Amino acid sequence: MAHPEQNPDPALEALLEQARQAALHSYSPYSGFRVGAALRLTNGAVVTGTNVENVSYGLTICAERSALVAAVSQFGPEIRIEAVAVVNLNNAASPPCGACRQMLSEFVLPDAPVLFPAADGPRTMPFSAILPFAFDMKLK
Ligand code: THU
Repeated sequence: MAHPEQNPDPALEALLEQARQAALHSYSPYSGFRVGAALRLTNGAVVTGTNVENVSYGLTICAERSALVAAVSQFGPEIRIEAVAVVNLNNAASPPCGACRQMLSEFVLPDAPVLFPAADGPRTMPFSAILPFAFDMKLK
């Protein structure tokens, strides 16, 4: 139980565990940093992802975006994400990176809880609090 005192909601605890299982599949020979993400969708499904690195380092995809593209691929563009869990197997902080926040922003509900290991311990924050000014293109 990673966040028992913070997340009495057993469904969120289960989501963390699913993220942890996904992290076991990490392909991270360059950084050794193994990350897993689990997205709970409003249709009830949970979709997971892990980071997949490449020798051309910049091509690496993070666990969160890996989960997101899997979710859209499986269920289509109408998906909505109602909870996000991120874990790593390195006992380190790993808040979702800026690129992943921006990608998630098109599919995630503003109030969706995002669970992640922060520098000061496990955190649960609403998505709108971790990305208050997402880019959105509004042409005049
Ligand atoms: N990584 C993630 O999977 N998610 C994040 O939000 C931050 C970083 C991965 C990318 C790379 O494989 C490794 O962690 C080290 O940066």
